[in-house]
Amino acid sequence: MGIRSLLVSLALVVLVASFCRADPAWNGHLTPGSTTNTRFTPYYVPPGAKSYDSSSPLLHYTGTWSESFSSAYVQKSMRSSSEEGAAMTFTFIGTGVEWFGNQDRRHGIATVFIDGQLIQDVDTYNPVSMKQQRLFWTFSLPQGKHTLKVVNAGKKQGESTGTLVDIDALVVTRGPSSDVSPAPQQNMVVSSQEFPSGSSGLDLSSNFPASAWTLVQNGSTGVHAMQLAIISETHALIVDKVEHNPLSVSGHPAWAALYNLKTHALKPLAMQSNSFCAGGTFLSNGTLVNVGGNPIVEDHTAAADFGDVDGLQAVRIFEPCDSDNVDDCRIYENHDRIRMASPRWYNTVLRISDGSAMIIGGSLKGGWMNNGTTNNPTIEYFPPKNIHGSNGLPIHLPFLIDTLNSNLFPIAFSLPDGSVFMAANRDAMIYNWQTNTERRLPRIPNGVRVTYPMTGTGLLLPLSPDNGYTPEVLLCGGSTVDDTKPGYQISSQDPASSQCSRIVLTNDGIAAGWQVEEMPQARTMPDAVLLPTGDILIVNGAGSGISGYGNVIDQVGASNADNPVFTPVLYSPSAPAGQRFSSAGMPQSTIPRLYHSVATLTPNADIMIAGSNPNLDRSEVKYGTEYRVEWLGPPYMTQSRPQILSGAPKVLGFGEAVQLKVRLPTGSSQSANVKVALMDLGYVTHAVHANSRLVYLQFSLSNDKQTLTITGPPNGDIYPPGPAFIYVVADDIPSIGVKILVGDGKSPAVDQDAQRNLLDKSTVDQYEKTKGHPKEDSSE
Ligand SMILES: *[C@@H]1O[C@H](CO)[C@@H](O)[C@H](O)[C@H]1NC(C)=O
Ligand SMILES: *[C@@H]1O[C@H](CO)[C@@H](O)[C@H](O)[C@H]1NC(C)=O
Ligand SMILES: *[C@@H]1O[C@H](CO)[C@@H](O)[C@H](O)[C@H]1NC(C)=O
Repeated sequence: MGIRSLLVSLALVVLVASFCRADPAWNGHLTPGSTTNTRFTPYYVPPGAKSYDSSSPLLHYTGTWSESFSSAYVQKSMRSSSEEGAAMTFTFIGTGVEWFGNQDRRHGIATVFIDGQLIQDVDTYNPVSMKQQRLFWTFSLPQGKHTLKVVNAGKKQGESTGTLVDIDALVVTRGPSSDVSPAPQQNMVVSSQEFPSGSSGLDLSSNFPASAWTLVQNGSTGVHAMQLAIISETHALIVDKVEHNPLSVSGHPAWAALYNLKTHALKPLAMQSNSFCAGGTFLSNGTLVNVGGNPIVEDHTAAADFGDVDGLQAVRIFEPCDSDNVDDCRIYENHDRIRMASPRWYNTVLRISDGSAMIIGGSLKGGWMNNGTTNNPTIEYFPPKNIHGSNGLPIHLPFLIDTLNSNLFPIAFSLPDGSVFMAANRDAMIYNWQTNTERRLPRIPNGVRVTYPMTGTGLLLPLSPDNGYTPEVLLCGGSTVDDTKPGYQISSQDPASSQCSRIVLTNDGIAAGWQVEEMPQARTMPDAVLLPTGDILIVNGAGSGISGYGNVIDQVGASNADNPVFTPVLYSPSAPAGQRFSSAGMPQSTIPRLYHSVATLTPNADIMIAGSNPNLDRSEVKYGTEYRVEWLGPPYMTQSRPQILSGAPKVLGFGEAVQLKVRLPTGSSQSANVKVALMDLGYVTHAVHANSRLVYLQFSLSNDKQTLTITGPPNGDIYPPGPAFIYVVADDIPSIGVKILVGDGKSPAVDQDAQRNLLDKSTVDQYEKTKGHPKEDSSE
């Protein structure tokens, strides 16, 4: 061996060693980059951000402030004042700032100003004494110079014994200017609304030119938006993994929150286990389950952590929360009573025709690409069933062995005959869960892989009584990278696929095979969103690379992908082939939405876009952790829209006729232009839009066009019983959606024997005992 090849092999060994080190998900025990376990506090300086201590000469104090010293403070020092009017002023360049200090019984209220504008009063009182707490944060200021001013208001709430206000440290988000070359900015309205507890926001909007589509940036998710589901007419549920999010709960960073779609206010939710990377679905009774997740990594244990427990077998219950007051909404977990039989990381969760959840595949532990050792080639159900002799235990699915390696987060849809379509890697099949049989479909053409980490996306196209609910599936994007290659042979610059593949799931359609078309831009990790009009909006993703972080060569920061795609594209399934894609009048974003991005239709019928975090823990290095929300408004948002005035039932039975009072826009013509869309907005994570569904309802319109008699879907095969939104669409303009429950509203059947057998034959949270840390109360 020559010296040159020796060097090459040595370099390879080093490369392999460093890639194998990559953690699947940070578990919260140890600050990334440090080697010693530290006492946990919300104070955190993300890579790329800069911290300023209370004693920095850049912080200007007026009035009387005293300095105190303790190892519990950032840089061991802190300034405090109880004097009304005492102020701290700090000028910085960036897009965000965070203020940290103590909270206890003696603390009072401070007023925060940015650039001279009053933002909010911050109450720093807390009955429990806590150090290094995040007292205020904002992340979406326009890039540039800003001044933060914190003024002691001389006020306190009733229980407080003093008016103390502390400055321990400030952390500046320096913003993207240094590391992202922004795309041309069009139709962007920038504002900041992420202040805790729904306070008034900072409106730094500028006028934008009138245009068909609009893109508005407003609000911040507070916890990174890895998973997203619309839970009511007013709120979205956001679920993340354990990481240093700015939103806190019980004195530590939160990893789930409710987002008010109207006011952009946030409510943090306490969660016991690590929800990285769970899936989810609503059940027939309207309850949402969040399933699977991440273990606690054993060699990182320490007494000080986020208080999370092993999430691999977790079934987290979120009961219906339909009021716009979400104070009492919470996530319930009790792994002794409710859990899966087997561990699952990156599983897909699907509501099936009987209203229960089918839980599909996943890995037995955290990792990256699936393989024969980590694979969990089974399905199980929640609530557990006793079918095919399983008695609540997992049922083997050969498809999930044949589709290794790139087969995590399978794409799945419930079909109108009650069976289930699944795509994984380059393959697809129809699974009849009642007979436990697989019908393999033709392979996806041209070697395109569509599931993690070669992530594409998929949708069931709208179902309509006009063609007997003929099912047709669309898969878009992904990658042709060889999934047997190790990470060090895959590059973030490997091109993504621009292919969309479409198949009609009838005997004739299957015989005809996949029809292939090309998106205008290649994408891995796209999100596809059904609109009530029947069109599909494709957004987010990267032009090159694959999903995940820390695995491939040419990483950008830690991202395995690069070349973010900034322009959404509309796909019209019923247009003639060759004329289906259009980005005409489409605004461009400036926010990269790569791994861990999401998008969903909202009740208002615009599109909520959030997330992106190809990082172990919150980071501000390209491509950083993204909290900003964008709202993409189709042209219909600014037109005169139909209205559902009254009559929407709480529960719409199968085949049941119900009268809605409606107001159609004046000038809207015959009933031929009216459609009634029944939609499941889905549970979105990792480009999987599980349960996304549009079923057009049969209806008749009264002569005066004020009464619409709609008929519920024929059965649970056509629309699996569970929550839905009804949109009345006139001349391709949808109304605001109204939430209902389809079916009888009852809970899915519970098989007590299967449940008992599952609990007997499976162990709870294999890693939990290694923690030696008391379980966190799920109440706040
Ligand atoms: C952001 O949302 C708030 C609350 O709905 C609203 O008052 C504000 O005008 C919005 N800002 C922009 C730029 O749309
Ligand atoms: C399978 O994946 C796991 C987790 O990423 C990894 O630790 C293991 O080395 C892999 N095994 C093989 C045979 O590649
Ligand atoms: C819905 O069913 C699930 C599964 O049995 C159960 O855990 C949940 O509490 C039910 N929710 C309601 C509102 O009945």
